[in-house]
Amino acid sequence: MTAPVPEEFLRRFARAERVVAFTGAGVSAESGVPTFRGAEGIWKKFKPEELATMSAFLRSPELVWEWYSHRKRIIAEIEPNPGHHALARFEHLFPHFALITQNIDNLHRRSGSRTVYELHGNIERNYCVKCGAPFSNAVVLRASGVPRCDRCGGTVRPDVVWFGESLPEEQWDLSLRAAQSAEVFLSIGTSGVVYPAASLPLQAKRSGAYLVEINPEPTPLTDVADLFLQGRSGEILPALLEGVERIRSAESRGME
Ligand code: APR
Repeated sequence: MTAPVPEEFLRRFARAERVVAFTGAGVSAESGVPTFRGAEGIWKKFKPEELATMSAFLRSPELVWEWYSHRKRIIAEIEPNPGHHALARFEHLFPHFALITQNIDNLHRRSGSRTVYELHGNIERNYCVKCGAPFSNAVVLRASGVPRCDRCGGTVRPDVVWFGESLPEEQWDLSLRAAQSAEVFLSIGTSGVVYPAASLPLQAKRSGAYLVEINPEPTPLTDVADLFLQGRSGEILPALLEGVERIRSAESRGME
């Protein structure tokens, strides 16, 4: 049973103007997307160095594509959960709201979020490593074996950030700026061990943000957070949404 959200925090949250949400694999767990380091986590079953690095791709593009095609097909069948939907609503409730995600599953956009900074790419996009031409999943999933660029013959790869690769500069700059100007920073469903993304909650705290962590398990961030909401994001985020709407409507009726 998830503990109720403290009313004192709900008041602070309902009055905030600049809010940032930072998400990891845990926000999609209730949709059926496996996390990476949980009990049934992806990296418990597969070796990241064999599937999610450029050297693995150069060594065996067939194996890497087999794995990403499998993930693309699974994720295409999955639906956003109430946690994703609550975050999409926050974008309309706060004057300055940004959603920074480490997830590549595109479920935030599919649930209606518009301002989404994708730090690790997006599994629905692909591009030619030689000329940069973009390719949709519809095209690459039709290819038998490793998809090739029909313009230059180059190899096509998923537009995701592999281990050892740098993050997309513009997405990182936008994320850093948002974190440094946040009043309330929500860190949701991330183990907080993969850098540089994991530095963002600390940057926000250092810049004066009220740092909230949402996770069923404590993480290295828990001791730094101002508030730890222990539980599943698919339950806690809708509760935050309900709380903000309740307080705001009471205020507008002059009852607060
Ligand atoms: N609600 C909220 N959090 C949850 C839920 C849930 N329903 N279920 C699990 N979690 C938490 C776990 O307790 C864990 O702390 O989500 C976290 C998932 O952690 P990881 O599997 O390490 O995923 P993440 O932090 O997103 O990984 C970061 O590592 O493998 C790379 O590029 C990949 O973006 C990924 C990055």
